[in-house]
Amino acid sequence: MQYNVTVIGSGPGGYVAAIRCAQLGFKTAIIEKYNTLGGTCLNVGCIPSKALLDSSEHFHNATQHFAEHGIDIAPPKVNLTQMIKRKGDVVKANVDGIAYLMKKNKIEVHTGVGSFVDKNTINVTAADGKVTTLTTEKVIIATGSKPTPLPFAPFDKKRIISSTEALELKEIPKHLIVIGGGVIGMELGSVYARIGSKVTVVEFLDSLIPTMDGTMGKELQKSTKKLGMDFYLGHKVTAVESKGKEVVVKAEPKNGGTALELKGDYCLVSIGRRPYTDGLGLEKVGITLDKGRIPVDDHLRTTVDTIYAIGDVVRGAMLAHKAEEEGVCVAEQIAGQKPHINYLLIPGVVYTWPEVASVGYTEEQLKEQGRVYKVGSFPYKALGRARASMDTDGLVKVLADKQTDEILGMHIIGARAADMIAAGVTAMEFRASAEDVARMSHAHPTYMEAVKEACLAATANRPIHM
Ligand code: FAD
Ligand code: NAI
Repeated sequence: MQYNVTVIGSGPGGYVAAIRCAQLGFKTAIIEKYNTLGGTCLNVGCIPSKALLDSSEHFHNATQHFAEHGIDIAPPKVNLTQMIKRKGDVVKANVDGIAYLMKKNKIEVHTGVGSFVDKNTINVTAADGKVTTLTTEKVIIATGSKPTPLPFAPFDKKRIISSTEALELKEIPKHLIVIGGGVIGMELGSVYARIGSKVTVVEFLDSLIPTMDGTMGKELQKSTKKLGMDFYLGHKVTAVESKGKEVVVKAEPKNGGTALELKGDYCLVSIGRRPYTDGLGLEKVGITLDKGRIPVDDHLRTTVDTIYAIGDVVRGAMLAHKAEEEGVCVAEQIAGQKPHINYLLIPGVVYTWPEVASVGYTEEQLKEQGRVYKVGSFPYKALGRARASMDTDGLVKVLADKQTDEILGMHIIGARAADMIAAGVTAMEFRASAEDVARMSHAHPTYMEAVKEACLAATANRPIHM
């Protein structure tokens, strides 16, 4: 079996790379070790987590907000089995969609573990041990990532769990202890808080979602506290023990103080993910890892000039859309084109409610760079649309260059922030000034008016509705 391009891994990096290669006329193969395509994102990541976030948000609205909207219902109950089943159906529809796209684009799918024999030869070992050998001109490695365990408390997958198990629980935890207040901790923590679990988050740093603009972490903490979530920031976890149906977590404040002991029935460890290269046989082609990641140059080329690597397995944010951009970028380079990715403008989103979405520089980064900047912000509570929907938590924060007024960063916490951030990306791709956006008509009443108002505040400190 001879191919122009072989992609290893069928997550959003791999399957998108394969489609773009096929569109460009290359005979393309994709290798996936699992029986379903779509990788982490579709099977145990983006899609199933959003399905549970949506279901649990419906429940939360039914219990907390329907009465105020004038809708009286008998107290609703959670049917977790159905919630998880629906999530499974959503996943199935999506992974089947990828299988369809592979067929449509005449991409040959090989199921099994892909392993290098040399730079032009890959063995695919199926679950039954059968080996198929592929020869190929180019290879794109897109093998993704896996959850990082605590060094002293490996996942037992029953009580000490990763996001994968948290998406499949058979019961609603009474007390879910979350270690790591990053994206997974806050998304899945809020799912269970909404459907009745007590949720306690223990975070090492002094802020939640610490890679985002500091204001976002503070606001998210305020909002999720209203769900009953508890937080211990600045705490270093020292022990996690699973004793039958109980998990005991011990932690110490980083800066000294009283040690903490929490008892729960489940402990979600969400302290980041690590690149995954097991079984790839990188040593056969002389690729050496750099801090676990496959090193690549600016063109996503590894140290072997016909082998590229993309997505979670290389440097940069571990995001599905970042992996997708890289997949397209590599395919187009192989075709002799000159694509470019502006990594600064890859947005980041946390799908809690309110959602958090960010693009460009954070205020902390601008300070560190010594850049002279202006800040404009506008609260959701001043929006007619937000009052109508009772989604008044949140704000839009726009950072602009003090002299040129160019937008340098946009950070939103609030209803529908995930969709709204696209406006920030577009503005920044075209290097818009805050005044450019402030002078554009934004439909009324919409949440997007907060973006216009924040830009008005940034450009000349003259919001209309505040
Ligand atoms: P992956 O999706 O990890 O795919 C890699 C694939 O390669 C896997 O299917 C694996 O089985 C296969 N593979 C590995 N080694 C081999 C081998 N040797 N042979 C054959 N196959 C192999 N990102 C977002 O942008 N938005 C979100 O909302 C979001 N939500 C998330 C929620 C959760 C709970 C998690 C865990 C992650 C989430 N992410 C989200 C991150 C996102 O899933 C990843 O960034 C994305 O999946 C990375 O894509 P990838 O193609 O690099 O790798
Ligand atoms: P993360 O990097 O977002 O958060 C990990 C958190 O754990 C950080 O706040 C970190 O300070 C903290 N931490 C690390 N070690 C700790 C320790 N020993 N004790 C206490 N806290 C500790 O990683 P997370 O949430 O596991 O997600 C992994 C990746 O998956 C992320 O990089 C993210 O990009 C991706 N993802 C993206 C989503 C999205 O785009 N909406 C949703 C879920 C995951």
